[in-house]
Amino acid sequence: MDWLLQTVTNLDSLSLRLGTFQNLTYIQSDRSLAELEKLWQQRLQKRLPVQYLVETVFWRRFRLKVTPAVLIPRPETELIIDLVRENNPISQPEQHWVDLGTGSGAIALGLAEIFPQATIHAVDCSHDALEVARENAIDSKLDRNIRFYQGSWWEPLHFLEGKVTGMVSNPPYIPTAEIPKLQPEVAHEPRQALDGGKDGLEDIRYLVENAPQYLVSGGIWLVEIMLGQADTVVELLKRQGKYSKIKKCHDLNGIERFILAYRR
Ligand SMILES: C[S@@+](CC[C@H](N)C(=O)[O-])C[C@H]1O[C@@H](n2cnc3c(N)ncnc32)[C@H](O)[C@@H]1O
Repeated sequence: MDWLLQTVTNLDSLSLRLGTFQNLTYIQSDRSLAELEKLWQQRLQKRLPVQYLVETVFWRRFRLKVTPAVLIPRPETELIIDLVRENNPISQPEQHWVDLGTGSGAIALGLAEIFPQATIHAVDCSHDALEVARENAIDSKLDRNIRFYQGSWWEPLHFLEGKVTGMVSNPPYIPTAEIPKLQPEVAHEPRQALDGGKDGLEDIRYLVENAPQYLVSGGIWLVEIMLGQADTVVELLKRQGKYSKIKKCHDLNGIERFILAYRR
């Protein structure tokens, strides 16, 4: 409820927490009380995520539009941008970065912000997701640096073979059988954003196999994973043979959340 009120009124989390808003004679909002009540009922009855109700999420410094066509970007994913910044060994000015499975465009925007001279190539198989991502890029005034492509993973990027400085991806990684067990809110998110096949690693395997063709020597491979997948992904990268300095990176909860490697 706090989150909904913060998004649609001028109240901040402190005044909600302390209850100081009760001293105000009026609270500014762009929604009527009846509209707010309707949103809240949808939240309760359909377990719709609040972010979809208000079509908004805050991610890093961005205020992003989200609709049920895109995954709601998670706070733990924010760290992927810091990992890129801290681990990019390449200093040439003309850089090509790739965000595979861009969804709302969150990662692409984060990359465009830290690499203002680079070109960011953002791919998604979903036309509707790309519409949202484009809108977010325009609203964040970063659309000049980002190109959007509809297609499957590397498929629309053949022209970048051997030229990519870094590939960043938060692919679908949940094992199919686990999806019905997730909290009901997740059922409103696009299936293709979640379902990583039988063991959750179907798309990650593809990204391990195909990225070396596109990355420059020393280029970064950085992927978000779920709890329990780290050892297998490290093994897949080792077996592929074209990666070096493979490492696991933790999120703020201490979970092995990302795998980083470099193209030999
Ligand atoms: C877990 S979501 C990540 C969205 C966003 N990058 C984020 O971190 O919030 C995975 C995304 O991959 C996209 N996707 C799934 N299969 C794909 C494919 N074969 N090619 C391109 N994108 C795909 C989905 O549409 C979805 O937007």
